[in-house]
Amino acid sequence: MDETRAVPSLLDIPADRYWPPEAFLRDANVTDLVASGHPNEEWPRQWEDAASLLAWDDPYSTLIDDEDAPFYRWFVDGTLNACTNCIDRHISTQKNQVALRWEGKRGEQRTYTYYDLYREVSAVAAALRDLGVEEGDVVTLYLPKLPELPITMLACARIGALHNVVFAGFAPDALVERMRHIDSQALVTCDGSFRDEAVINQKRKADAALASLEKSIPTLVVNRLGKSHDTTLTNDQYDYESLVETYSGTDVPPVSREATDPLFHIHTSGTTGDPRRMTHATGGYLAGVAWTAQTVFDLSSATSLWCTADIGWITGHSYVVYGPLLSGSTVVLVEGSLHYPDRHRPWEVIEQNSVEVFYTTPGIVRTFMKWGESFPAAHDLSSLRLLGTVGEPIGPDTWEWFYTHVGERQCPIVNTWWQTETGCVLLSPIPGIDEMKPGSVGKPLPGVEIEIVDANGQELPPGEPGYLTIVRPWPSMLTPLESDWYWVLAEYWQTFSDPRADSWRYFTGDQAVIDDDGDVWIIGRDDDVITIGNRRLGTAELEAAITTVDGVTEAAAVAERSGGDTALCVFATLTQGPQDRNSVRKTITETVAERIGEFARPTAIVFTPELPETYSGKTMYRVLEHVVNARPHSDSDSLRNPAIVGELNTVWNEH
Ligand code: WT7
Repeated sequence: MDETRAVPSLLDIPADRYWPPEAFLRDANVTDLVASGHPNEEWPRQWEDAASLLAWDDPYSTLIDDEDAPFYRWFVDGTLNACTNCIDRHISTQKNQVALRWEGKRGEQRTYTYYDLYREVSAVAAALRDLGVEEGDVVTLYLPKLPELPITMLACARIGALHNVVFAGFAPDALVERMRHIDSQALVTCDGSFRDEAVINQKRKADAALASLEKSIPTLVVNRLGKSHDTTLTNDQYDYESLVETYSGTDVPPVSREATDPLFHIHTSGTTGDPRRMTHATGGYLAGVAWTAQTVFDLSSATSLWCTADIGWITGHSYVVYGPLLSGSTVVLVEGSLHYPDRHRPWEVIEQNSVEVFYTTPGIVRTFMKWGESFPAAHDLSSLRLLGTVGEPIGPDTWEWFYTHVGERQCPIVNTWWQTETGCVLLSPIPGIDEMKPGSVGKPLPGVEIEIVDANGQELPPGEPGYLTIVRPWPSMLTPLESDWYWVLAEYWQTFSDPRADSWRYFTGDQAVIDDDGDVWIIGRDDDVITIGNRRLGTAELEAAITTVDGVTEAAAVAERSGGDTALCVFATLTQGPQDRNSVRKTITETVAERIGEFARPTAIVFTPELPETYSGKTMYRVLEHVVNARPHSDSDSLRNPAIVGELNTVWNEH
C-alpha cells in the first residue's frame, strides 16, 4: 500500500441511507432475488440464470472450464449469435417497437424499429461479407455517435466478425496503432461530424491513418455531413448508403459462434499506459450484460434508456448497445455535447424521449451542478425511474444533488463499479432491493466474490482500505487471445494469485474499503493512469506524443485533482540551447490534440531541468502528483535526484 497517499476519511462520516423509493418498487424487475427467479445457488450456479436470458443455438455442456485457469472458458460447447440475440428474436414479438432513437446535434431525429434495425444490419452484413470480411476477421469502427455505429457492430456480429470500436475523437496515429494491433481487415468511418458550431473532418483523419497502414483495406464511409459535402472516395472506399441500398432485402444467415469465441476487441490502458487489446467472449459477455441490464438497470421490453457514454468505451458497448438491445429496450443515442445549443439539452432529451433510465458519470453530474438546478427544474422529468453513475467515485454531495434535482427523490441511483476488463457491472446496489448510501458502490452482485487485501494478499477486515480483488471468475470476464495471455497474467492475475496452489485472484488495480454493512467504497486507482472526462488515458501514449515535439526531451503527465475535477498537467524537460517556451507549449498542446485527441489537451505545461527518477530510471509520478496537488512528499528514498523536489515545487508554483 502506498503509505504517502492520504487514507480516505470515507468511513469517518456516517453515511446517509436511502431505501428504494415506493414509486420505483411498483414496477421493478427485481424486488426479491429468489422470487424473481434468480435461484439462490452456490457460485457458479447463479450464472446459469444469466445464460438463460440468451437464445442459444446449441446448449452449453459445461458451465465453466478451468483447465487453463485463469483463462476460464464459460458455457463450453454452447453456440449462439449476438446479433440474433439483440435483434432477430425480438422481431416476432415487437417488430415495430422502437429500438433506437437518435437525436442529432442540429435538431434532426431518426427512429429505428427492431425491424428497421434488422433490415439495415442485414444489408451491412451482406456488404461486409462481399467485401471479403470473414468469420473471425476484425473490423475497425471509427464513428461518432451515429446510428450506423451500433448497426455496424451488430452487422459484424451477424457474420461472426469481431468489431473494434475506436473512439472517434482519437487522432490518426492512435487509430493506426490500434488497427495494427488487431490486424484490422476493414474500416467503417464517416465523412465528418459536428462539434457545436464546428465541422470535424473525420474522413481526413481516417485517410491519414489508412495512408500509414501497410496494406489497403476496404473502407465504408457513412455520410453525415449531407449530400452537398464533397467527399472523395478512392478505390477501396465505399459509400455506406449506396451499399445499404444495393444489399437491401438480402437475407444474411447469422453465423453460429461458440460461446468462447471472441465477440469484440476493445482497447484499454494497462498500468504501463500503452493501449492494450482487450477481448470479450460471445457467450459469457452477453450473459453478464443481459443479466445486469435486467437486474441493475431494470431494463425490460420498451424501457427507454439514455446512457451518455461514447460507444467507443466499454460502457457504450455494454449499456448503449448490447444490454438494452438484448432486453428489447429503446436506446436513446444523442450526438454532440450536452451544452449545445444550450444547457437545456440534456433535460430536453429526457423530456422529449420519455427517458426512464439515465446513466452517466459523476463528472457530468458535477457539470450539471455547476450549471444549476434551474435547468432540470424547467423540464418535466417525471418519466425517469432510475439513475446511474459509473467511472469514478461519486461524492455524497454530487449523489444528493442528482437524487434530488434530477430524480426528484423518486429514482434510485445505481453507483455501478466495473471495468473494461470486467465487461459488465460487478458491484452495485440492486435498485429494487438494496439500501443506497451516497458515495458507496454497494455490494458485489450475486455470483461476484471480492476481497480487500493488503500488499501480501491477506484479506483485510472491514474499515481497512486495501486492494480490491475478485476471487472467483464471472462470465463476462476478460477472455484474452492466447497471444495476450502472458501480459494479461502479469497485469491482472500474478500480483495476488498462487499459481502453484491453482488459486487465482484477479487484481482490479483499484483501492477500496468495505464498511461494517458490507458496502464497498472505491478509493481510486492504484496506478498512474489518468482519467479525463471519464477516459482512461495512458501516460506512456501521451508522453510519446509530447516528446515528438522539437526541443522536448522528456515528459511526464499527471492529474491535478480539485473538487473532483481532473486536469492534465505536463512536466517536460527541454533540450539545451535557446527555446521559446511559449511556442514549445503551444506545439505540445497541438501535438497532443492531433495525435491523441482534443479531449487530452493539457491544462498546464511546466518545464523542469529534470524529472524525478528512481534509480532504475523510472519517472516517479507520485512525486509530481504531490507537487501539483500540493501534498507534502515524504518518500524521497527511492529518488535518484531528491534535490529536484524543491525545484519542481518552484516551477509549479510559478506557472
Ligand atoms: C476504472 C475502470 C466500466 C466503466 C467505465 C470505466 C473506475 C469505475 C467506478 C465507480 C469509482 C469507478 C475504477 C475502475 N471506476 N466505476 N462506480 N466508482 N470508480 O471503465 O476505463 O475500464 O475504468 O474506473 O477505477 O477500475 P474503465
